[in-house]
Amino acid sequence: MLAVAVLAGCTKADFVGKPESIRAPLGLPAVPGAAPAAAVALGKKLFFSPSLSVDGTLACASCHQPGQGFADPRPNSPGVNGGRGNRNAPSVWNAAYWSSQFWDGRAATLEQQASGPMMNPVEMGHSSRGVVSAVAADPEFRRFMAAAYGDEAVTLERITKAIAAYEKTLVRGNSPFDRYLFGGDRTALSEEAQRGLALFRNKAKCAVCHTIAADHALLTDQKFHNLGVGMDPAGNLPDPGRYAVTGREPDRGAFRTPSLRNIAETAPYMHDGSLKSLKEVVDFYVGGGNANPQLDPLIQPLTSFTRQERSDLVAFLESLTGEAVANP
Ligand code: HEC
Ligand code: HEC
Repeated sequence: MLAVAVLAGCTKADFVGKPESIRAPLGLPAVPGAAPAAAVALGKKLFFSPSLSVDGTLACASCHQPGQGFADPRPNSPGVNGGRGNRNAPSVWNAAYWSSQFWDGRAATLEQQASGPMMNPVEMGHSSRGVVSAVAADPEFRRFMAAAYGDEAVTLERITKAIAAYEKTLVRGNSPFDRYLFGGDRTALSEEAQRGLALFRNKAKCAVCHTIAADHALLTDQKFHNLGVGMDPAGNLPDPGRYAVTGREPDRGAFRTPSLRNIAETAPYMHDGSLKSLKEVVDFYVGGGNANPQLDPLIQPLTSFTRQERSDLVAFLESLTGEAVANP
């Protein structure tokens, strides 16, 4: 254990072994980042390990649940010591593609993001030394460390890099929507969902923010917009959103456009988990969001939007559930 502490300052966090590229499924661009299989295996073990939380009760996977689209079905997630954040845990599927992490984009990379929850008092509540010694106390973790990095030393940088390497393998595309639009399979989408796609692009203009490119679709512009979500009865937006990062008044109440891939699996919706179903989300947009001084000008009531059109749009959103690629 002493050796670990002494080594920590000077230990390199370079993976040993040959990086294995990650295959991108239909509908997604090349995956940024590749790591050797041993690094991914270490990252996966860390992601599912409760040792990362101060009282040994929570893993990353407690709030990013694989069976729930790697998100949390609860509007906000209980952390250690009964703490609770005020935001809904986003899906980790396809996070490799995002140019910033968190609803307000405060982390630039997955590596930077990963230390956030371990040290967040309302999430895993640890200290950096606490995390390092908990991982180093487990001989199996030391073996995985040695396979990934060449020696058993445990550092926070090694932990976060390995978690990020694992997360980058979590890519998921090839949904009915992808097979229809990018794979040339005209039968992949129901007629309802095809009408929903047309509405998504044209009449409802959803695709202005949830973007579709010529040969792939991230379904997010990776920018920050205010929809008025989370408004309290007095008309205030309690969560400052992007404003907390930039200090710019127009960013108040703005959040990063989420991708809509696998959206049917990740209810509830929005940064605060306040909308329970895709139908509620569509109704919210038809109503034009919640009026406030920073409301994005693109959010306007959708007049003469019929019941059929609402359900077509929901059918389209349900066609975005994809398949995982077998990766290292
Ligand atoms: C107690 C629940 C909880 C735990 C435990 C937790 N997270 Fe999260 N995670 C969240 C919430 C809530 C957010 C959104 C917070 C925000 O935007 O401010 C989030 C955001 C993220 C994001 C950003 C995704 C995006 O699209 O912006 C990633 C990636 C992530 N978590 C990975 C992890 C990893 C890795 C761990 C373990 C080291 C972890 N989380 C542990 C609840 C949790
Ligand atoms: C001005 C840009 C913009 C437009 C236009 C837009 N969205 Fe969004 N969308 C966002 C942002 C930003 C959020 C997150 C807002 C928040 O939580 O405060 C979001 C959230 C969502 C969510 C919830 C995602 C999740 O993971 O919780 C769904 C579903 C959705 N939008 C569908 C649509 C549909 C359908 C349309 C068209 C009717 C649409 N959006 C139009 C920017 C936009």
